[in-house]
Amino acid sequence: MTSRDFFEVVGKRRSIRAYTNDEVSNEDLMKIAEAGRSSPTSVNQQSRKFTVVKNKELITELAQAIGREIHDYEYDFYDPAAIILVSVPGAGQISAVEVGLAVQSMWLAAAALDLGMAWMHQINGLCDRKPVRKVLDKLGLPKHHICLSVMALGVPAETPGPKPRTEEINLVE
Ligand SMILES: Cc1cc2nc3c(=O)[nH]c(=O)nc-3n(C[C@H](O)[C@H](O)[C@H](O)COP(=O)(O)O)c2cc1C
Repeated sequence: MTSRDFFEVVGKRRSIRAYTNDEVSNEDLMKIAEAGRSSPTSVNQQSRKFTVVKNKELITELAQAIGREIHDYEYDFYDPAAIILVSVPGAGQISAVEVGLAVQSMWLAAAALDLGMAWMHQINGLCDRKPVRKVLDKLGLPKHHICLSVMALGVPAETPGPKPRTEEINLVE
């Protein structure tokens, strides 16, 4: 890969909120999860778990459990081919950074494979509500793990343009 390829992928990554019905191969799902797992962790503690879910019934069950907790009975994850949960043992700052690093690597890997992802934050703070935990248990998350996001993943059915970035970059020489 040339550095140009890398910056092209960075530039084309988007939040994708509409997906086709196409499946994503296990090979691509594993490549994406592996990209996430390759990201660094504090003192190399590697305490995250990556849970990739293709089972549509379980995806719907999780969305409905979250939806009931937030009183949004239409809530879904944009009907993706899969979701990826990066779970961590605790909601501290370091854990949040480690999740963010993993998610960005997966998001770029998905873009490199012409796949799309979206971050949905609503699960944050709800993992220990009984109905949500019941689904997380079914998905095999460790009891003490929480998620800051649900990452939807699939073949894009939309091509949103870039959102202008306004944060300051200050080069001091
Ligand atoms: C911490 C965080 C929380 C987010 N929560 C949501 C969300 O709940 N639903 C959603 O559709 N997008 C969510 N997003 C996506 C942002 O809205 C999106 O990244 C931003 O508008 C820039 O668009 P882009 O990703 O296409 O560049 C979230 C992103 C981050 C980093």
